[in-house]
Amino acid sequence: MRAKIVAGNWKMHGTRAESATLIDAIIAGLRADSAQCVLCPPFVYLSDAWRLLRGGSVALGAQDVCAETHGAFTGEVSAAMLKDVGCQYVLVGHSERRALYGEDSLLVARKFAAALSRGLTPILCVGEQLAEREAGRTREVVASQLDAVTGLCGVPALGTAVIAYEPVWAIGTGRTATPGQAQDMHEFIRQRMAGQDAKIAADVRILYGGSVKAGNARELFAMPDVDGGLIGGASLKADEFLSIVAAASG
Ligand code: 13P
Repeated sequence: MRAKIVAGNWKMHGTRAESATLIDAIIAGLRADSAQCVLCPPFVYLSDAWRLLRGGSVALGAQDVCAETHGAFTGEVSAAMLKDVGCQYVLVGHSERRALYGEDSLLVARKFAAALSRGLTPILCVGEQLAEREAGRTREVVASQLDAVTGLCGVPALGTAVIAYEPVWAIGTGRTATPGQAQDMHEFIRQRMAGQDAKIAADVRILYGGSVKAGNARELFAMPDVDGGLIGGASLKADEFLSIVAAASG
């Protein structure tokens, strides 16, 4: 039985004060038996967040990481730095990074490797654009995003990672994948990994992301290969996020 994870990706939202208020409200509302919860605030609020979370069960994550270890890379943040401020998780390959900042699958794989090398758990985001789905290329696209990582890092590397399937057409649109569509792709991802390592495929957590809300979380999380969620907009409202965490708990 895989324990579920619910991760909140705040993207570039909120002020320092709002982020602190949100964290306090989430901590206060979590039940003792809640699913593992990961919060990914913007870089500049990570240290504050760590102080607020310290000692508790909620883990800290970052939204991106540099593929390089250190050096003249203005504006970038290394895996060691993220570890240093208390991160346990980091998103790599979010579709907004791929689409808006030109990150290709090889760069994403290098970021994945950088995260692992510093003991961070990468949350590898994969997912197809609407046009790719409509052209019947969903599996091909997701397979190539996965293969870039396994090609560089090997399948065992996925054993210490989390995967997030986020169909791009469902992100921030209110148009969630149906539970059946999510299950179909999660099963495909797991089976593709099983071809190389059955144990790792059985154990890896595959989160669904894309317009998850309190109202649809339970039916998505009930799917056998959906091991939790990566939540954008709904993670900015404590009550809504807590309801999603509750849907993944117990
Ligand atoms: P929304 O939940 O706002 O659709 O965002 C999903 C996402 O991109 C999480 O990483």
